[in-house]
Amino acid sequence: MAFYYDGYTGPQKFWGRTSPEELVREYGTPLYVYNERILRERCREMKNLVKYPNFAVNYSAKANSNLHFLRIVREEGLVVDAMSLGEIAVEEAAGFDHDHIFFISNNMSREEMAAVIEKGILISVDSLSQLEMFGGLCPGGDICVRLNTGIGAGHSAKVVTGGHETKFAIDLGKIEEMKGILEKYNLRLVGVNQHIGSLFMDPEPYLESMKALLELCKQFPDLKIIDFGGGFGVPYHKLDGQERLDLASLGRRMDELFAEFVREYGREVQFKIEPGRYISAECCVLLGKVHAVKTVYENKYAGTDLGFNVLVRPVMYDSWHDVEIYREDGEDTGRREEISVVGNICESGDIIAKKRMLPEILENDIIGVLDAGAYGYAMSSNYNNRLRPAEVLIQEDGKARLIRRRDTIEDLLRGFPE
Ligand code: LLP
Repeated sequence: MAFYYDGYTGPQKFWGRTSPEELVREYGTPLYVYNERILRERCREMKNLVKYPNFAVNYSAKANSNLHFLRIVREEGLVVDAMSLGEIAVEEAAGFDHDHIFFISNNMSREEMAAVIEKGILISVDSLSQLEMFGGLCPGGDICVRLNTGIGAGHSAKVVTGGHETKFAIDLGKIEEMKGILEKYNLRLVGVNQHIGSLFMDPEPYLESMKALLELCKQFPDLKIIDFGGGFGVPYHKLDGQERLDLASLGRRMDELFAEFVREYGREVQFKIEPGRYISAECCVLLGKVHAVKTVYENKYAGTDLGFNVLVRPVMYDSWHDVEIYREDGEDTGRREEISVVGNICESGDIIAKKRMLPEILENDIIGVLDAGAYGYAMSSNYNNRLRPAEVLIQEDGKARLIRRRDTIEDLLRGFPE
């Protein structure tokens, strides 16, 4: 007898022709498992968001930059952004041309900037000092700027990137000075971008910021690209029935704004968005194993191998991830209880799911952490000298394939000079 508490992966037929138990036997834990079908669906939803033809979806690779994952994203016709030379390197390896990469920088060194210019990749700078740096390196060049219209949104103060309390972008008080620098170096402002923050479920701030940006753009005559950034949220509380973003209505309203702008601007430009989370979060379940169950005074804990070196979001942002339970041999004990699912890192904050009401968890159960594909592996680390996990893809044919091996102890010992 098996017991599955799987309100999401069950109906989704997430596991294809395999199962959590089989995957754990084959690849061990912790394990990031991706479903190719769901990934492709999310790419298509974003591509079909609007009707306006000159529209590009710039996948924000910081959310998940697994090479095989990026290849699928490219096959689906998305382009990418990058914010480091490392991201560019993986994107090149995944087959993206340089004109399909948009470099959205923050505080880069002269050497980095020169290397990106050398590749012919379009750059967006987000301060006047970096605009000066670009002018010095590439006089007469094409450049984009990231603007901050004063509007921000996001699931945590740490990821709100528009408004007054953020290091990002050029504020509206600096536009005239910015024009002076563009003129001084004979630069052509070909694009403007913004990113107000990560994870909105209410589209109003995004639409407001679009209006504000479009209004500003009317004063720049040479624009080819206007990029509104990412932030499209996903329902992390899906087991409680949280609604998805209403993309149909959001897309309609975006199309109206596009049409109005093009009419007034007098010609078409390319409009872009930069979703990271929307593309990558929901196609992934992180699997871990329960190695201990205990009570400390009044609190019950399921001790797993899912430390915050594997998934840092709950610790870093107090983020919620729904949890599933898979038990190969055994039945539902029928008991429901409050329990915290914790990891194996030497800090009390190492909690992946705090005080949840769940079916009783037993030793050797497998825990599935939902929506783990965005900022999951990407933010994992070797803290406590633990090995970063492996990643597996459940292909469209339902079979599993390893797409990144687990770290080894040898990996931990690399890089020390004799
Ligand atoms: N564009 C820019 C310039 C960004 O900085 C980001 C994310 C995105 C697009 C994509 O945003 P998304 O669509 O994924 O919300 N580690 C945090 C999220 C950090 C977001 C950083 N920037 C988390 O785990 O929630």
